[in-house]
Formats: sequence, structure tokens, C-alpha cells
Amino acid sequence: MFGNKDKDIEKKVWDALKKVNDPELHKSIVEIGMVKNLVVKDGDVSFDILLTTTACPLKAQIQKESSDAAYTVEGVKNVHANISGETLAPKIPKKNPIPGIKNIIAVSSGKGGVGKTTVSVNLACALQRRGASVGILDADIYGPNVPLMMGLRDAIIREKTEDGKMKPPANHNVKVMSMGFLVKDEQPVVWRGPLLDRVIRQFFTDTGWGEIDYLIVDLPHGTGDAQLTIIEAVPLVGAVIVTTPQDVAILDSKKGLSMFKNAGVPVLGVIENMSYYICPGCNDKEYLFGQGGGQELAKLLEVPFLGEVPMNPRVRQHADAGSPIVVAEPDSIQAEAFMEVARQLTMTICERGVAEMMATAAV
Ligand SMILES: Nc1ncnc2c1ncn2[C@@H]1O[C@H](COP(=O)(O)OP(=O)(O)OP(=O)(O)O)[C@@H](O)[C@H]1O
Ligand SMILES: [Mg+2]
Repeated sequence: MFGNKDKDIEKKVWDALKKVNDPELHKSIVEIGMVKNLVVKDGDVSFDILLTTTACPLKAQIQKESSDAAYTVEGVKNVHANISGETLAPKIPKKNPIPGIKNIIAVSSGKGGVGKTTVSVNLACALQRRGASVGILDADIYGPNVPLMMGLRDAIIREKTEDGKMKPPANHNVKVMSMGFLVKDEQPVVWRGPLLDRVIRQFFTDTGWGEIDYLIVDLPHGTGDAQLTIIEAVPLVGAVIVTTPQDVAILDSKKGLSMFKNAGVPVLGVIENMSYYICPGCNDKEYLFGQGGGQELAKLLEVPFLGEVPMNPRVRQHADAGSPIVVAEPDSIQAEAFMEVARQLTMTICERGVAEMMATAAV
């Protein structure tokens, strides 16, 4: 008897859930396939919600709205809207996926010294704070700075994982792999072309990364061998370009953009670092080098603008001491700026994934 009643409820719950939109993508959560395993038993409703990425913003809101919608159906006694550990996984790159790693994001810049590594470590910690499992791959073979900024300066690879891979050192709940763990400061790395290529590939394939939602790849600047290897060998979900306002190096950024575009790697957006200075007395923002350069660059390159990060000595001091400011001073304006960039980035990945998935579904 309950069987028929439950079937009827199930149909109505599907209809109710169809009206719930993903708050940021503005599309029905049913239409984009976010609802799975809907079961109704004696008026108890349960279903799984698959997010587009683990750190998808507003997951609590999606959970509440879908649960509320199910409760509007007559006969529903209880609703269990579970956030699934599985993501919708609309992986954009199809080539050579690396098992366990969901999204690989390259952090690049046209010019050196604009803060790629600083942005990489803070972004990684920000994504981790948002609930994702995160790793950083330091692709700067000749000048690996990630170990220092992640408080892993003295770390070396000692252990292997069960499947015989290199166990990446970790700090602040972020796994890290770097040339700095294999070769210590005093030994210069003089590898060229093919060897460099092999080492970088091994960092992806021979490291026991485990389950990773976001792997941040800190690239050296420019458009050299390391970049080409990564673009060629690694299934990147996309790249971000870091720039500074005094050095909105349009030509260099354009070169970087076409390098990615030619290889079919989406550019997820531009991050402007050292955008403004916060007056310590009054917390006012001072745009020492003018305002809006990064935004203009993003417009020119026709990619999203992911946000701006202030210039502040504490950002440097904490990074030099091995604790990115996102971890060391989580409530600071600077940390908030990085958190916002991380939010924009996950949202952009969400949007791209869903757009891709819908395009595939339409074929
Ligand atoms: N927002 C910031 N506020 C203050 N100092 C910063 C900020 N971002 C980066 N820096 C400082 O600027 C210097 C360069 O930063 P970083 O090493 O991250 O740049 P990079 O682009 O990775 O450089 P390279 O091209 O050499 O790899 C560092 O001393 C760093 O601490
Ligand atoms: Mg660097």
C-alpha cells in the first residue's frame, strides 16, 4: 500500500526539486544532474546532492533549499538531503587523467616576482579552509620556493606510500611536492630539456597524492620548457594568470594566454596581486599604482577577473616564516581577499564544468 503512495510522493518530490536552482549557476539542480539516488520509503525521503566541485560555494544553501522543497510535498515525513562526497565530476580535460586528482590548476604569470608562489600557497590554504583536499606541486625546478612558504623547508622525501610512490610532505593540511625535497639548497639543478620534462611528469605520476580536489601547480614565469611540459602532459582544468598593477604586462600575459589557448587549456581568470595598500591606522585601501589594471587585463584577454589581493608586509613575513597569511591570520583583510579569490575560482570551475556538461548532454 505504501509502495504506491511512495511512488506518487517520489514523482512529486522530483517535480519540487526541479524548481530549485543552483544559487550561482541559476540552473535547476535536477536538470544539471545534481540530484541522485532519490528514495522514498514510508514517507521518508532521502537523496544525494552531487556538487560540481567539493568546495562548491553555498552547499549548505543548496542542501537547505532542496530539503525545504521536498518538505512541501504532501505525505513527506522526513527529508535527508545528503551532500555526496562524490562530485558531479564534469572533468574538462579528458587526456591522461591522474587517478584521485580532480582539478589541476596552473598558476602562471608573464613576469617573474609578481607573487605566483605567494598566491599559490595562500590559494591552496584557502581552498583547504573551504573544505577541499588540496595539494601543491612546485613546478619551479630551478628556484623552488614552495617548501619555504609552506613551512617545509627541511622536509625530504623519506617514505613511500603503499603502492610504492613518493609520499608528499604535508603542512597546514596541504600536501606538497617540490624539487626542494629532492635536492637541497647548495646543489644547483642544471637539468635541461628532456630530464626536466621527465622530472615534472614524475611529480604528477609518481607522487602518492591520494584523493585531491584541487592540485595547485606553481609554475615558473614565462612560457618555457616547464610550462610546455605541464600543458602537454597534465590534464589541467585550467590556468590562472597572476599580475600586479604596476606591471600589467599585457604583452607577456597575452603570450601566456595564447600558450594555454593553443593547447586547449582554459584560462580561468586573472588575479591581481599587490593591488592596494591597507593603511594600518584606518584600514583604508590605497591604490598606489592606480586601480582596475587587472580587471582591464581580464577584459582584454576575455577571461574572468578573480579578484585582487593587497600588498602588505605581513603577507611576505608569514610566507617567509612558513605559514601563509590565510592560516596565520585567518581573520585579516588579506586572508579574506585570498578566501574571496578562492571562492571566485571554485565558482568559475563550477560554471565551466556545468556549461561543458550541458553542452555534452545537448549533443
Ligand atoms: N601581496 C603581497 N604583499 C606583500 N608582499 C608580497 C605579496 N605577494 C608577494 N609578495 C612578496 O613579493 C616577493 C615575490 O613573490 P613570489 O616569490 O610569490 O613571486 P613569484 O611570482 O613566485 O616569483 P618567481 O617568478 O621568482 O617565482 C616575495 O618576497 C613575496 O613575499
Ligand atoms: Mg615563484
